[in-house]
Amino acid sequence: MQHTNESKKLFIETLGCQMNDNDSAHIVAELNKHKNYTTTQNIEEADLIIINTCSVREKPVQKLFSEIGQFNVKKKEGAKIGVCGCTASHLGKDIIKRAPYVDFVLGARNISKISTIVEQKGAVEIDINNDDSNYDFARAETSMYKTSVNISIGCDKECTYCIVPATRGDEISIPPEMIIEQITKDVKRGAVEVMLLGQNVNSYGRRFSDGRSKTTFTQLLHDISKIQGLERIRFTSPHPLHMDDAFIEEFAQNPKISKCIHMPLQSGSTSVLKAMKRGYTKEWFLNRALKIRKMVPDVRITTDIIVAFPGETQEDFNDTIDVINQVKFDQIFNFKYSPRPNTAALELKELEIPDETGSKRLIEVIELHKLHQSELMRSNVGKTMKVLFENLKPNGEVSGFTDNYCQVFVKGSDELLGKIVEVKITDATRTTLKGEVV
Ligand code: SAH
Ligand code: SF4
Ligand code: F3S
Repeated sequence: MQHTNESKKLFIETLGCQMNDNDSAHIVAELNKHKNYTTTQNIEEADLIIINTCSVREKPVQKLFSEIGQFNVKKKEGAKIGVCGCTASHLGKDIIKRAPYVDFVLGARNISKISTIVEQKGAVEIDINNDDSNYDFARAETSMYKTSVNISIGCDKECTYCIVPATRGDEISIPPEMIIEQITKDVKRGAVEVMLLGQNVNSYGRRFSDGRSKTTFTQLLHDISKIQGLERIRFTSPHPLHMDDAFIEEFAQNPKISKCIHMPLQSGSTSVLKAMKRGYTKEWFLNRALKIRKMVPDVRITTDIIVAFPGETQEDFNDTIDVINQVKFDQIFNFKYSPRPNTAALELKELEIPDETGSKRLIEVIELHKLHQSELMRSNVGKTMKVLFENLKPNGEVSGFTDNYCQVFVKGSDELLGKIVEVKITDATRTTLKGEVV
């Protein structure tokens, strides 16, 4: 669409996961295409202020109201405020009740309606059954060499601690030809790496909105890897339950798949996993993780852990520590259990763990992980690794990521950008590597 008049300004803040980041990118691209908005970092000059929210733990939700209160003070005369995302889904019109200066509320499953809702004062659009799986979103250019593509919406799991199924609704897969077309377009534009996104990526293909026959995530990975010019495929989040042998083989053997995998453990105790309704046991998780370690020598395995789930005994927690010791995760995202509305775990209220115990367990996980992290990162020194360079710093350092997704810094110039180059690793900190181009 051609715009004749001057663009309006959009300020957008994003909380939460990578899916929310991608939703924000869609919001920006849709508003640019249909409403002639361009982004600004300066809230005072914005005509439209959007906060794309996360509900997964209680803290960010508490912060929301103080934050939009501040937006309301800082905004220029006549500027609109919109609340989008997961908290919009679950609080809905209560947001406007509590903060009447909010102009509209748009749920995480309704992002395609952004261009119409900006014109509707007081509108609340949070239909949990809305189906955007065939919606052709305006494409966002977030980075030159990387692109992100949603492969499914919603989540069919019922993990008892998790609010996401209530904020994003049932799982529907996006048709493979749409995914491949988007990636192909982005590759023509210069992207060499794609991140496939979904709340449960490896249950891909079970349900399409047009009722077509089922397919699998493994098949999708295989098909995407045929795209000419695409060098690296990443995905998040997969579920350990769906990591079957066919998937692990494709992961191990397909050279385009980045050898970094997220395996959200949540707990190492089979009885806690059962109370969480995760669907796997400690043994299953260990079997899958150790098989991947064996088949993929340089693999990096990252995880999410929740400590102090209601009823978690010292023995249960010891099982989590045991799994951490056996797998030696390359990165752990740790959380203390946070009771959430619309979740089954609320029924376990009497079993909730004292906050100090939760904090102690969290610290224990963090300290143990730091030891593993240092050891794993040091083991890279002396190796030669392939790095995709993407960022030039003013001090002449160029940074990029290895195939197993470790950040590396070398001395170099912009000639390295967008290229995959062999680098000899010379030094390591707990979180990054240094090297020399060979
Ligand atoms: N769909 C993804 C991510 C879900 S949310 C997955 O299944 O991996 C990201 C992480 O937040 C979860 O993996 C979990 O570790 C954490 N989380 C979710 N609900 C939580 C809660 N109520 N309290 C604490 N952490 C939680
Ligand atoms: Fe939440 Fe479980 Fe779905 Fe992940 S798989 S989004 S933790 S319900
Ligand atoms: Fe948060 Fe929603 Fe993502 S609750 S973690 S923004 S799916």
